[in-house]
Amino acid sequence: MAATEKLYFYPVWLRIWHGINALGIVTLIITGISMQSSVESSHILGFNLIVKLHNIAGTLVTLSYFIYFIGNVVTPNGKFYRIKPRGFFAKPIQQAIYYAWGMFHGMKPPYPISEKRKFNPLQKYAYVMVMYMAVPVVIISGIGLLFPEIILDKVYAFSGVFVTAVVHSAMGFFISVFLMIHLYIASIGKSPLENFKSIITGWHQVH
Ligand code: HEM
Repeated sequence: MAATEKLYFYPVWLRIWHGINALGIVTLIITGISMQSSVESSHILGFNLIVKLHNIAGTLVTLSYFIYFIGNVVTPNGKFYRIKPRGFFAKPIQQAIYYAWGMFHGMKPPYPISEKRKFNPLQKYAYVMVMYMAVPVVIISGIGLLFPEIILDKVYAFSGVFVTAVVHSAMGFFISVFLMIHLYIASIGKSPLENFKSIITGWHQVH
């Protein structure tokens, strides 16, 4: 391998999905937090407008999810998400030690990015959990809250709408935490902006 090599990691469909998804989810987080308070005077934009924005962003994220899901089924990108049983615990632990200690002590990354490995083991687990668990649960529970007539009346002693709202908010919180860690991890590279440029241009520089 040459000292630096450029890999086309982010095809157009992936960048379109990522852009809509990122903007949509940031809007959902801001409007979602804002909706926690129903006191009209505490909203800059007014409660009804915030709800409308939340619904529009949710619809965009849902539609763009199909681009992501289908894209990962029909193109080779999906293979980067496959988790193998070998080293199921050991690999992410090694990566976590690198992030917490090794990185600050001149250690080489245990799972460097290459043509065959786009994500390190921790990134892979995080992306699988957020994209194949948290986002689908938020989408399905969000559709339930948009059309409450399709939700079960009661789940044990609780109202179905209440349980759906708790699941929706908890997953939304999980995605918010993911996003903060995602932005920090994405800033680790030769320079802090390198990965952000990659997700816009499509090209990733391997050093
Ligand atoms: C302001 C918002 C965001 C920014 C600036 C951002 C930035 C980035 C960057 C730089 C990458 C490429 C480097 C890497 O793989 O780490 C990336 C990839 C990725 N991001 Fe984000 N991101 C944002 C929001 C999100 C959100 C909200 C999600 C999911 C809920 C997400 C999911 C992903 C996934 C799954 C990939 C890998 C895609 C693939 O290559 O198959 N991102 N993001």
